[in-house]
Amino acid sequence: MPVRLVLASRNTHKIAELRFFLSGLSIEVLSLEDFPWVPSLIEDGATFEENATKKALQTFGAVNLPVLADDSGLEVFYLNGRPGVYSARYAGEPASDAANNERLLREMRGVAPRRRRAQFRAVLALVVPGASELAQGVCPGTVAEEPRGTNGFGYDPIFVPDGTSKTYAELTQDEKNAISHRSRAFANMRGLIETRLLHAK
Ligand code: IMP
Repeated sequence: MPVRLVLASRNTHKIAELRFFLSGLSIEVLSLEDFPWVPSLIEDGATFEENATKKALQTFGAVNLPVLADDSGLEVFYLNGRPGVYSARYAGEPASDAANNERLLREMRGVAPRRRRAQFRAVLALVVPGASELAQGVCPGTVAEEPRGTNGFGYDPIFVPDGTSKTYAELTQDEKNAISHRSRAFANMRGLIETRLLHAK
């Protein structure tokens, strides 16, 4: 019987990306959509590491299975790292990707191209009985002047990763997965998942 791993997320985009990365491993992947009674965490930590660890531990406590949690966001240097851990709710509640993008573009209006540097950061937390692990990935780039593209979610339409002139939202899912912060975090976590889950017996 394959080992089971629960993704501590209800974000369908994140779940799809993480499922894709995990697809090469013989793991049965579940998510919080399979555990509707588990409450969503109030993400009030000061760092991605703190939020990812809290999400993973809370979910592990509820489902009693190995858990992988992601906390991620966009850090804009001109804005001293904001929205950062506030990425999901940057324009307030109820959370809206369009409103978040609008607020960020408003704050960046008139800022010269060379001062629009930013990075997406993802921190993954793995919790298994008796152990926890963290891994992170960063994708450097710039904030676009206006939204472009319709793929993906969140800040995808206004983030241009280094090495292309397209936004994340203009890339195909495969192209995004090849370079994204989440794929880089997963590359750093992959060996730990193999050690903790697949070679643990
Ligand atoms: P979290 O669920 O608290 O980790 O929220 C992460 C937020 O960061 C999301 O709601 C998005 O606004 C943003 N974010 C994280 N990863 C991505 C991505 O791959 N593309 C676009 N936005 C992202």
